[in-house]
Amino acid sequence: MSTLPRAGSGTPTAAGALEGLPALRVEGRLGRLRERLGAVGVDAAVIVEPANVRWLTGFTGSNGTVVVLGGGEALLLTDARYAEQAPAQLAEAGCAGGVEVVVARRAAEAVAGRLEGANRLGLEDSVAWREQIRWSEAVHAETVPLTGVVENLRAVKDSAELARMEAAARIADEALAAVAPMLRPGTTEAQIQRALDGTIRSAGASGPAYETIVASGPNSALPHASPTDRPLEAGDLVIIDIGALVDGYRSDMTRTFVLGDPSDRAAAMLEAVGCSQAAGAAAVGPGVEAGEIDRACRAVLDDAGMGDAFVHGTGHGVGLDIHELPRVVSGSAVALEPGNVLTVEPGVYFAGFGGVRVEDLLVVTDSGCRPLTLHPKTSPVPLPA
Ligand code: GLY
Ligand code: MN
Ligand code: MN
Repeated sequence: MSTLPRAGSGTPTAAGALEGLPALRVEGRLGRLRERLGAVGVDAAVIVEPANVRWLTGFTGSNGTVVVLGGGEALLLTDARYAEQAPAQLAEAGCAGGVEVVVARRAAEAVAGRLEGANRLGLEDSVAWREQIRWSEAVHAETVPLTGVVENLRAVKDSAELARMEAAARIADEALAAVAPMLRPGTTEAQIQRALDGTIRSAGASGPAYETIVASGPNSALPHASPTDRPLEAGDLVIIDIGALVDGYRSDMTRTFVLGDPSDRAAAMLEAVGCSQAAGAAAVGPGVEAGEIDRACRAVLDDAGMGDAFVHGTGHGVGLDIHELPRVVSGSAVALEPGNVLTVEPGVYFAGFGGVRVEDLLVVTDSGCRPLTLHPKTSPVPLPA
């Protein structure tokens, strides 16, 4: 479902992009986390990853730590800058009753007394070394690392999250369509990037979901190129990797254009990557192991003699972070679930010549998958007469 204004309906506001979207609610998430913590044998936990804190509580400030205590209690520790914002955001997200806001300069020292009964305290593995020392010194519990626990829960999106990601994908589709006429010899990569980012913002997104990639000619052989002042030339392959950020949630899409008639080599690359991406997307569905999608993409490129030029992973989950679970990589036995949102993005890269990548964002449904990114797969861009 998308409530975005269509092209031509005037300049939408940020509120316009969110209009009609269901409210984000966090009820039930702490309970699901507690079940997982029990399964890994910890009786209290410290959550510091900003996206995890946001997903659990709705809090978006730059300094937030969730401490999950025994007995159904949980705390959000933050500093005085957020004394007003934190309770308001928790109330709006539906977790004010279950989480107590504590304003304190040092989280470990402030809550040590509340952890007296804990035997094993899980610390997210991204807790800084100096913070881990503080926690170990402040509490009697054994401290153990927690890896991917909240991230695994976040990998299944609810309908309010999906609505934001779909809105973000629609904005990116429309930005690419609006800026496509700039794809002609003489326009620089950086000019196209600026136009895309400006269009994303004026369509109501908070901004791009990551640094927008515009990579032309030999630069397209760099999978994560930063746009330069290189002017596009006839015959160039041009990779555009674009996503939007809507209310914290991201989209991710790549299309490859060719300016004018492709060379035989470029045409073969476009054909092989297009077929590879289609094969990977066709494999996505509930119960499918993520490694099977990788295998489907690689088989097509191997058959085309380009397997060695596919130098990165096939895809990744997307959500509050641009790269999250599930990872779509060789050998992964993780079974996809309805509500997973992931990319399928094979590419081939030849130094000095160029590259091709095609990327869609797909949501796993009960019976297969549905693409969120809808911009047409590319074709030659006609050159001006
Ligand atoms: N745009 C970042 C990625 O595709 O992974
Ligand atoms: Mn991308
Ligand atoms: Mn991606």
